[in-house]
Amino acid sequence: MALNPNFRADLDGQIAQLKADRVYKTLNHLESPQAARVTMEGRGEVLILSSNNYLGLCNEPAVVQAGIDALGTFGAGTGSVRFICGTFTIHRELEQALARFVGTDAAMSFVSAWNANEGLTASIVEEGDFVASDALNHASIIDSMRLAKAITKCTTAVYKHGDMDDLVEKLRSAKSARRRLVWTDGIFSMEGAIAKLPQLLQIARDHDAVLVVDDSHATGVLGATGRGTPEHFGVVGEVDIITSTLGKALGGAAGGFVAGPEPLCDMLTQRSRPQLFSNALPPTVAASALAAVQFIESHPDRVRSLHENAAWFRAALKEAGLHPLDGETPIVPIIVGKTADAIRMSGMLLDRGIFVTGFGFPVVPHGTARLRCQVSAAHSRADLEFAVRSISEVAAAVGLPS
Ligand SMILES: Cc1ncc(COP(=O)(O)O)c(C=O)c1O
Repeated sequence: MALNPNFRADLDGQIAQLKADRVYKTLNHLESPQAARVTMEGRGEVLILSSNNYLGLCNEPAVVQAGIDALGTFGAGTGSVRFICGTFTIHRELEQALARFVGTDAAMSFVSAWNANEGLTASIVEEGDFVASDALNHASIIDSMRLAKAITKCTTAVYKHGDMDDLVEKLRSAKSARRRLVWTDGIFSMEGAIAKLPQLLQIARDHDAVLVVDDSHATGVLGATGRGTPEHFGVVGEVDIITSTLGKALGGAAGGFVAGPEPLCDMLTQRSRPQLFSNALPPTVAASALAAVQFIESHPDRVRSLHENAAWFRAALKEAGLHPLDGETPIVPIIVGKTADAIRMSGMLLDRGIFVTGFGFPVVPHGTARLRCQVSAAHSRADLEFAVRSISEVAAAVGLPS
């Protein structure tokens, strides 16, 4: 029987439209491990300035070796869902380490932070409950709320980005709800901005709300020892629920987690759909992530290098006449305005051996297209100097005002 020809033709048409709209994404294939410099198929050595490998742990020998050892000890697969066929001790060890690291009683791992977020909201709200979310929160939080609404009939609201007055108003309007939840990113990934955590905590307490912080871009990154946004603000142990990824600073493979009180993690075992209907993290990945946490705990100097590199890079861009968004995080966006300019600059930089992604509408608002640079502790000063020089040249070539 022939394949459905209409389906194929429809997809071809949609792809052609994405290309015509200049929002079509291409994949660049790498032939070496993630690091400051990688070998890109067809291009040779390229400096990466768009990776979440903030601490350079993707290819850290101890992290890689832990995965190799776990392959020998636990094998390749998990076989089924945790509660059905058993779960590995390495997952428990990882979860204990994650809880210790972010300062909670307990943690529960998932195959991704996407999964962790998606499963969380519907597991802890019911009909009559209320969920508020910052307008710039990650897509996984948005989808988590959509799912929770469909599954439980809770009500939801989006407050203006970082606007505490708007949040308070939304919470006041939900006074009669049984439970109120407030979701925020710790670091907002397109801006590199940090959530106003002390105010959010105060508002959550004032309105008897549960605060959930997705610290995916901040775990291993913010705070003197990398414990995330709570450490940055000196409030470790005060956030009700933290979610985060293992796919960025913590080894960068895959996986995510929810951290919070013991009964919360127990509830996720009982109710979270990704736990109930999907396999756990491969044991190799769990072992590498555990080694990554242990590495950061014993090497706070790596976090310090990241902070120093980020501050140096921001200052050097400014000195070169560019206008990166102000901030304290290793996410350093340079606003270029038009989407076409961001895409063009990204292409010109790749031709010079630097991989940095340009983001335009609809990912960011019209007129605020940007090159989003991400600094790593793995970058040498020479790498960053090369990046600043190249970005300046390319900015001048496209006529970006200095
Ligand atoms: C804030 C935030 N939450 C969740 C995720 C999803 O992480 P993962 O790759 O582990 O699914 C990301 C990844 O981009 C993120 O930036």
